[in-house]
Amino acid sequence: MAIEIIGTGRAVPNRRVTNDELAEKIDTSDEWIRSHTGIGARHYADENTATSDLGAAAGLEALKWAIQKGAVAEKTTEELALTLDLIVLGSTTQDYYGCPATACIIQNKLGAVNAAVMDLAVGCSSFIYSLETAAALLNANSQRKRALVIGADILSRVTNWEDRSTCVLFGDGAGAVLLEKTETEGRGILRSTLGADGSGWEYLGIYKGGSRNPWKKGETIDEGSTVFMNGQAVYNFAVGILTETIAKLLKDEGITAEDISMIVPHQANARIILAAGKRHKMPKEKLYINIEEYANTSSASIPIALDELNRSGAIKKGDLIMTVGFGSGLTYGGNLIRW
Ligand code: UT7
Repeated sequence: MAIEIIGTGRAVPNRRVTNDELAEKIDTSDEWIRSHTGIGARHYADENTATSDLGAAAGLEALKWAIQKGAVAEKTTEELALTLDLIVLGSTTQDYYGCPATACIIQNKLGAVNAAVMDLAVGCSSFIYSLETAAALLNANSQRKRALVIGADILSRVTNWEDRSTCVLFGDGAGAVLLEKTETEGRGILRSTLGADGSGWEYLGIYKGGSRNPWKKGETIDEGSTVFMNGQAVYNFAVGILTETIAKLLKDEGITAEDISMIVPHQANARIILAAGKRHKMPKEKLYINIEEYANTSSASIPIALDELNRSGAIKKGDLIMTVGFGSGLTYGGNLIRW
């Protein structure tokens, strides 16, 4: 038995904002942003678009792909949506604070009335966690066959425009994969590793509005309701944990870095990715980096990358793909996938 990816999709807002455009309003420059992060542009959702809109659009694309490729017997996305047993959304910018779960809204948009739903929020590691969670839930019950796993975030809604060290980093977007339980052996999600170092919970987050710091009557929006980050602390954690996570997946699977066709890392900073890759002597061509176009889209960065690779034909059936990432919490993890 295997949990295979039979469809991928993505949805990225049309509005593209270059570093130069940001530099008109913020004390920054294209040179600084590119040299410190690798970012050249980002896409922002318009004010009428919420995370569920992007998430559902990416999910729909994944369903269409599976139909187009003849991976399923269903002929329409409506029919295929009815066969979904599960929708897992990885996100930290849900449509509504606390409840309802944004995955409920996505279920409704897709007409996936038979799907159980959940939101999973562990910062930028949310998609990696969601993939493993969906695979485990499919494996846990013989009646479950298909799951849609989505990573979607609209970070432009929670950006602190007064803080130039964070506001230039983020973009909006969504990506999705359609999972199916099959009788094949040795394919699909082979293994995952998930972890957290909760001692770093103060380094990256949105610290206003929860049970610790609830909104009080008459309060106005201040920087507490936007993303705070200790960039240096997160940077140092990130390089170490990406290196360790890659090593752990290789060791647990009994393979070497040469066996990997492509590493698909969370797109937080090109320097972090290259530093971790260097420690494993990975050639640059095997490290997928698209941060120049999208910036850091949090939970969406890995599924957007998977969809780009899939649609361009850069990854093919049988290739060994490794996702790896980290995020607020601090959380981390990776998935090993035989495409
Ligand atoms: O998925 C979310 C996880 N987050 C991350 O992965 C982020 C991890 N951290 C980083 O990627 C880096 O720490 C940053 C890109 C956020 C910052 O890069 P850095 O090389 O660590 O810069 P820094 O914070 O040490 O700042 C260096 C200088 C400072 O100026 P002074 O004090 O040396 O004069 C900053 O004020 O760069 C300045 N600076 C900027 N200058 C122009 C900070 N942000 C900017 C900016 N434009 N946007």
